[in-house]
Amino acid sequence: MQATKTSTPLIVHTKNELNVIERKHPIAAVFTMGALHEGHAQLMDEARKYVDQSGNKAGTVIVTVFVNPTQFDDPEDFAKYPHTLESDIEVCAKSHVDVVFVPKVSEIYPDENVLAERISAGPLGNILEGAARPGHFDAVLTVVNRLIQITKPDVMFFGEKDFQQLVLVRQMVTQLDLPVAVIGVPTVRDIDGLALSSRNKKLSTNSLKDASRLYEALTLAQQRISEGKSLTDIETECTSYLQAIREIELDYFEILNESLQVPKPNEKLRAVVAAKIGGVRLIDNISIER
Ligand code: PAF
Repeated sequence: MQATKTSTPLIVHTKNELNVIERKHPIAAVFTMGALHEGHAQLMDEARKYVDQSGNKAGTVIVTVFVNPTQFDDPEDFAKYPHTLESDIEVCAKSHVDVVFVPKVSEIYPDENVLAERISAGPLGNILEGAARPGHFDAVLTVVNRLIQITKPDVMFFGEKDFQQLVLVRQMVTQLDLPVAVIGVPTVRDIDGLALSSRNKKLSTNSLKDASRLYEALTLAQQRISEGKSLTDIETECTSYLQAIREIELDYFEILNESLQVPKPNEKLRAVVAAKIGGVRLIDNISIER
């Protein structure tokens, strides 16, 4: 079988099926949990561009659609997670993806008594999102490592929207010497600045409006930095700004460096925010120039 360069992707469900496809290098991967939107399409478009510009147009763009049960802290969340395979395949087709891998849980975790290598995210996995969702990043890294072993990509694309995930994936790739490049792709936003996320579908019209305040707070931080304000003052101002909005249940607003550590003078900054709005947990971040 040969992965053809039409816009209709080849859909495969098992490792055996995947292994008989002739996948030409470079192999560019985008790992997803489905419910695909414009943000995912951006990752796929970047993957396609990377392959097409590589000098080997026969290279392969592979997208995985796997709702990883182990990274959900709330079983109800997992049970309610949208499964939209038909429209996901359409999104992949539009982005000229070659192969869509849609495995069952047993393909990824073949024997629940024999654990696949469990990856520990370490201390960085316990702050910010990790503090709110203990064990989440261990589970994310474990599945990403499994998906790397199975799809064998040369390069993989992750959204900056889940910035802590991106930093942790980079950390894992470096620490385990995995032979794969990691490319971060800027967040896609709606007209009000709200970062695109599968979770936005759960927001009411009013909550959608409130949600765009997160981006307003992030851009306020950017403005205050350019005015020369101190990071502590800015964090306080942005925190108060969001806490004053009744519908927003703020978890954190912090200004850190690009490794999500306390910034040293002149280091590049990353403002990160998380809040529950209308019962839905949302996260966002921006890079800030000093
Ligand atoms: O970002 C996601 O959708 C998931 O965390 C990932 C990387 C596909 C792992 O399940």
